[in-house]
Amino acid sequence: MEGGAAALLVPPRVRRGWFVACRSADLRARPIVTRLWGLPITLFRTEGGVGALVDRCPHRNVPLSDGTVVDGTLQCPYHGWRFRPDGACTHVPGLSGAPGKAHGASAYPVREQQGFVWIWGDPEVAPEGEPFRFRLADDPTYTTVRRTVRAEGSMHMVAENALDVPHTAFVHAGLFRNDKPERTPITCVVEREADRVVCEYVGEARPEGLVGRLLSPSGGTVTHFDRFYLPSVVEVEYRIGTENHILVDAVLTPEDDYRTVLHAVVSVRTRVPGWLLKPVVLPFALWIFRQDALLLAKQTATMQAFGEQRYASTEIDLLGPHILKLMQRAAAGRLTERQTPWRKETTLLV
Ligand code: FES
Ligand SMILES: [Fe+2]
Repeated sequence: MEGGAAALLVPPRVRRGWFVACRSADLRARPIVTRLWGLPITLFRTEGGVGALVDRCPHRNVPLSDGTVVDGTLQCPYHGWRFRPDGACTHVPGLSGAPGKAHGASAYPVREQQGFVWIWGDPEVAPEGEPFRFRLADDPTYTTVRRTVRAEGSMHMVAENALDVPHTAFVHAGLFRNDKPERTPITCVVEREADRVVCEYVGEARPEGLVGRLLSPSGGTVTHFDRFYLPSVVEVEYRIGTENHILVDAVLTPEDDYRTVLHAVVSVRTRVPGWLLKPVVLPFALWIFRQDALLLAKQTATMQAFGEQRYASTEIDLLGPHILKLMQRAAAGRLTERQTPWRKETTLLV
């Protein structure tokens, strides 16, 4: 493939933002490797906290993830240089003096909260703000299910797919909505700000598919929001009637340009008790995800075969183009520019 065409395949690589590096439970005594936009990063746990270093020893380029944790540092397996979680080199075996600044490894700022290890995606720039908080994950009145999955698609494709309503009548036919000759108009209010885009669906009936009937057998008024927050959070929120509330958050980590990890946290409160709901929510969520993952992989393969990403959108592609715009701005480091808030109402037939 020629260079020009390959460049058209590069999605916006947003780095300035907090990304989930791994689940807390997956990081134990041994260092592990994660990737962000193709770059390997090693994570290791010490008594003083979690370290996230570029997975390359500054001495001779051996992966630090092959090393061991010793006295609060990560020790390289080749000549035994030791690095603190902040990247400083503390020890060079055999050297009579102390190692200097130039011997340190590049370190990512780290936070650990709500069962996830987060890293700030640009080690050269100081973090702005704190990682996203899952707002209902610690609420005991909700049943919360977590799952981590991977999709062969860019971060933008995965985010658009997660918040796209029109495909549900086809890819997930019978689960939420169906393709039918008589459709009902609803109003979609899209609002975009500097770091987010939100769509409220007004006048929506309870989805007639299996999932809707399961969550709310008696129906009721529906409140439905789809939200995207930079750098990579997608959120779907449904309230059906007074008793049913479902909040789906997926935080996306771009391992590579076309390989994205989804850390999903689903919180549900319904009349159905949690112990009964839990075994149902997970298989359903995975079933829906598998249907989407199949489509995303085909999209990726097709774009790669044609050597470009090309989209013809209509106004009912409500969020995808906005998400792309936000990601492009963030990738170009133009987030702090003033933004005029954007708002539009669109009719969608469901
Ligand atoms: S390569 Fe790591 S200490 Fe020499
Ligand atoms: Fe879907």
